[in-house]
Amino acid sequence: MWFMRQAGRSLPEYREIRGPGSINDAIANPDLATEITLQPIRRYGVDAAILYSDIVTPAHAIGFGLDVLPGVGPVVEQPFRSSDDLTRLRPLDAEADTPYVLETIDNLVAELDIPLIGFAGAPFTVASYLVEGRPSRTYHNTKVMMKARPDLWFALTDRLADLAIASLQSQVDHGAEAIQLFDSWAGSLSAADYERYAMPSSAKVLEAIGATGVPRIHFGVGTGELLGLMADAGADVVGVDWRIPLGEARTRVPSDRALQGNLDPAILGAPWEVVEAEVDKVLESNNGHPGHIFNLGHGVTPETEPEKLEKVVERVHAYRP
Ligand code: CP3
Repeated sequence: MWFMRQAGRSLPEYREIRGPGSINDAIANPDLATEITLQPIRRYGVDAAILYSDIVTPAHAIGFGLDVLPGVGPVVEQPFRSSDDLTRLRPLDAEADTPYVLETIDNLVAELDIPLIGFAGAPFTVASYLVEGRPSRTYHNTKVMMKARPDLWFALTDRLADLAIASLQSQVDHGAEAIQLFDSWAGSLSAADYERYAMPSSAKVLEAIGATGVPRIHFGVGTGELLGLMADAGADVVGVDWRIPLGEARTRVPSDRALQGNLDPAILGAPWEVVEAEVDKVLESNNGHPGHIFNLGHGVTPETEPEKLEKVVERVHAYRP
């Protein structure tokens, strides 16, 4: 078990050392990024570490021109709108462009006695930031581009696939023992549109990383209707949010795949008795199946009390089917 967004925001020790600048500056400081990755390991005793970085780090590193604003998320000065913008997406040379990420991984691998999970953003989700210019609820411009300019859309997502592959490959080369592909906003698409416009570029990433042999976790939010396609894209583990029980999710993916999830992060705000019952519900919904990584259905929210997460870890580790 581990928690998405275990490193960051909800931890007082994070806020203390994070500093006031852009998260890009914190990520570019290997000593700081190493320490932040380790904080939740010490506190919670989770079974894996997740690299402290961001899904927009590769695009930032090649100079696309973006920042990550606290409380907002990624914002782009000049959104991606035309074929001229493709020249702003040159290939990533991970060793030269993101040496700080790889130094952080080197530090972590030397320090950790549990696996480090590396990650990248899936092309659809990263494209949504580059095209919209900021976090969006509707993905209006992104969906219009897909439908009206499929040539441009596929050129964009193919470049973003190559960015993700270069980044993930370098993370695995430096010792990441599993990877997660975050397609956080894929759930905004119908299954038919996911299959046509998002799945091919994600499949390219997952297939390329399959050659490394590390387990590949494929995650999105609101993806109940997409789980089968997300498995077929080349996932060893499929992430499930809280909208469907794990037992139901299992009927939607091939039986040789593991599942990850799926406690609703908002429930962590309730009294412990409520949280405990919901944790048990997740475990029971898995029904003793061997392929289960306990996690939240999405990231830890900033208001979560770390003590709750400590107790969740204890409860899950003590559980016997
Ligand atoms: O424990 C971890 O998961 C840490 C590593 C991590 C971060 N971002 C650090 C971060 C990971 C895996 C991510 C991935 C990421 N980034 C995703 C996919 C995961 C998801 O939540 O669906 C997305 C969509 C982003 C883009 C992004 N970056 C958003 C939407 C935000 C939130 C803005 C805010 O402040 O509410 C960020 C910033 C960010 N990335 C923070 C952290 C800890 C918080 C802000 C900060 O400390 O400056």
